Amino acid sequence: MRFLKQFFIKNQPQAAPQASKTSPALCEQAARGFEDVYHSQQPEQLPWFWRDLDPDFISTLQQLGLTQGSVVDLGGGSGTQAVAMAKLGFTATSTDFSAAALEGGREFARQANVQVNFLLDDVTNSRLTTKFDLVLDRGCYHIIAPARRADYLRTVLRCLAPEGWFLFKCFSSDEPARPGPFRFSESEIRDFFGTSLDIVELRKTEFPGAREIFPKALFALMRHRPAHT
Ligand SMILES: C[S@@+](CC[C@H](N)C(=O)[O-])C[C@H]1O[C@@H](n2cnc3c(N)ncnc32)[C@H](O)[C@@H]1O
Repeated sequence: MRFLKQFFIKNQPQAAPQASKTSPALCEQAARGFEDVYHSQQPEQLPWFWRDLDPDFISTLQQLGLTQGSVVDLGGGSGTQAVAMAKLGFTATSTDFSAAALEGGREFARQANVQVNFLLDDVTNSRLTTKFDLVLDRGCYHIIAPARRADYLRTVLRCLAPEGWFLFKCFSSDEPARPGPFRFSESEIRDFFGTSLDIVELRKTEFPGAREIFPKALFALMRHRPAHT
């Protein structure tokens, strides 16, 4: 836990999308930090735990009229979002670099009696080769060290089917500064993702979880930019 507090930086500079300079050792340290957290606490105790599908994901699926397809949740932790998507009829994959998180997810999937593909994978050095109709990120990007964000983005771009949708949530810079995930303004999200993706929607929201007061967050709906003919 102490490591995680040190790893999360209160006021971060926004990184330009550039090749990774972060050492593999730092990434391994981050993974170990999350592994310790998932080992030492029940999933329900974690501040980001939300058993049901995130309300912003629900409203977006309704808005897009999506009821089936393939979905991957990047940094999906205990797999609640992938399990919820599988219950709706989607073919769901959940990745994380914490084996303990995935183990918790397998248990949720077993209890819900649904099939979810749980994959041990570092989003900044991903082994994923499949394309998905939907890519979800609920609180993974806001953990990624600035120097690895370009690697993260490459994974998203590679996983996203040409007509696919990317549903994204992160902490907002409206959230008070304290140890925790990185926080982003709307213009920072536009500057970073808007270079490679079409941002169809970007708005303020909350990050529902185990805390009494939900942190202030941003939600974005993105897709590949259509190729010019
Ligand atoms: C704030 S938690 C959110 C978990 C999950 N998305 C949810 O909503 O319950 C962030 C998750 O990202 C995972 N994570 C952080 N960096 C990662 C990386 N480089 N590759 C894969 N997973 C990562 C952590 O292990 C953790 O499960």
